[in-house]
Amino acid sequence: MMEPDTPGDMMKVLELYSGIGGMHYALKESCIFAEVVAAVDINTVANEVYKHNFPNTCIYPKTIEGITLAEFNKFDFDMILMSPPCQPFTRLGAQKDVLDSRIKSFLYILDLLPSLIKPPKYILLENVKGFETSVARDKLIQTLKNCGYSYQEFLLSPTLLGIPNSRLRYFLLAKLQPDAFCFQTFSQVLEQFPDCDSVEMTSSSFSRVLSADGSKKEENNSNCSANEIISKEDETVLYKLETLGHMKRKQSQDNNSSIQMIQNFLEEQLEDPSPYFISPKSLLRYALILDIVGPTCRRSVCFTKGYGCYMEGTGSVLKTASDVELALVFLSFETMSEDEKLTQLAKLKLRYFTPREIANLHGFPPEFTYYPVHAEVTFIESPLPGFPEKISLKQRYRLLGNSLNIHVVAKLIKLMVD
Ligand SMILES: C[S@@+](CC[C@H](N)C(=O)[O-])C[C@H]1O[C@@H](n2cnc3c(N)ncnc32)[C@H](O)[C@@H]1O
Ligand SMILES: *[C@@H]1O[C@H](CO)[C@@H](O)[C@H](O)[C@H]1NC(C)=O
Ligand SMILES: *[C@@H]1O[C@H](CO)[C@@H](O)[C@H](O)[C@H]1NC(C)=O
Ligand SMILES: *[C@@H]1O[C@H](CO)[C@@H](O)[C@H](O)[C@H]1NC(C)=O
Ligand SMILES: *[C@@H]1O[C@H](CO)[C@@H](O)[C@H](O)[C@H]1NC(C)=O
Repeated sequence: MMEPDTPGDMMKVLELYSGIGGMHYALKESCIFAEVVAAVDINTVANEVYKHNFPNTCIYPKTIEGITLAEFNKFDFDMILMSPPCQPFTRLGAQKDVLDSRIKSFLYILDLLPSLIKPPKYILLENVKGFETSVARDKLIQTLKNCGYSYQEFLLSPTLLGIPNSRLRYFLLAKLQPDAFCFQTFSQVLEQFPDCDSVEMTSSSFSRVLSADGSKKEENNSNCSANEIISKEDETVLYKLETLGHMKRKQSQDNNSSIQMIQNFLEEQLEDPSPYFISPKSLLRYALILDIVGPTCRRSVCFTKGYGCYMEGTGSVLKTASDVELALVFLSFETMSEDEKLTQLAKLKLRYFTPREIANLHGFPPEFTYYPVHAEVTFIESPLPGFPEKISLKQRYRLLGNSLNIHVVAKLIKLMVD
């Protein structure tokens, strides 16, 4: 459990790059006696959503590099929770790494850390896969070592917790010595949650370089995915964001009863589903690269900030017609005329996941409700948490795509503090 300086003391948490407060929700879920003393983000839209849900938290709507050492010292925090911007590290990005101006603020934090009057006991960092091989990561590790932290790195996805959504992310936990973690640490990146009690680790817990050997397991869950049919078209287009190893993992997920079905995360009834249906034009253009899942599937691909805006690799879409087999719709698809294709595709009744459904997959609590985008809100006794009404659908997708899985982070916070 936590070790407060004096009994009854609340742990003070600094939330950097706070966005819509995914870290804050995770902290709440972890049940640690703690409060966020400051949340820092430059995005005014994200800050509005944050303020809407955590009206009592102090938000600093400025750049992190604009906060002085004296100000940081004044926050007097015991823990940092942070998810620095990830573009510099993603494989799709330019991979400029530390030269990228967007990472200046992160390097500033690393510079600051040794100068703090009271270095925080705990640090949790979230980032995309790819960070683990970046120069920024090496600088982070070096700083932590110099400052006397023990640390553990992870690559974890919500699927490990039975959630049907792939969101493989890098995490780092650091704890100021002499305090030690409740689990054994390794210099390798762990791909599983460690056990507090067990000291043994199987070799499968470690990160491996996934072989892109091209071997592909044929599967036949035709109501769940059209991957087999589609992947013959062009594998490189299909899963730009993921390795073939991940793709194989995804396919076996539909057959894995320890992962929940998508239907557990869907809204029961959409008041107005029209904003979520995919236009015929987009359908025609992107049919073969869409990742289509049905309510009985046990997987979905990572929802990114471009969801609802760009079609390629931004997240799965939902097949709402339960009686139509995906494989049949795509049968001899290439030889069809455009009209025929459209007729076939229309049968699937494809739609985007709603922001609430993505929030469900991310583990946002039920109180993170929202004003429906198009509903006429006639009478509201007290403001509902979630998204303020004026936040557009695109903005909601964008903010959620930048956020994180709350259950994964909550579990990590518990592991770090225990
Ligand atoms: C990956 S998102 C973090 C999202 C957050 N964890 C959540 O749950 O919504 C990165 C955030 O960092 C913010 N950001 C980027 N550079 C910043 C800087 N120099 N100072 C403050 N905030 C910054 C962006 O506005 C964005 O909201
Ligand atoms: C099923 O999913 C769980 C949780 O991700 C995982 O631990 C397990 O290995 C999977 N089983 C199979 C057969 O893939
Ligand atoms: C999948 O099912 C179809 C039709 O039921 C069948 O023709 C095909 O051979 C199956 N593919 C595999 C790999 O089992
Ligand atoms: C799915 O699981 C069942 C039962 O565990 C097994 O018999 C079947 O071969 C699996 N199918 C695939 C495609 O993995
Ligand atoms: C797909 O769904 C249809 C209708 O619900 C059903 O008849 C069919 O057996 C399902 N196919 C598979 C492979 O589960």
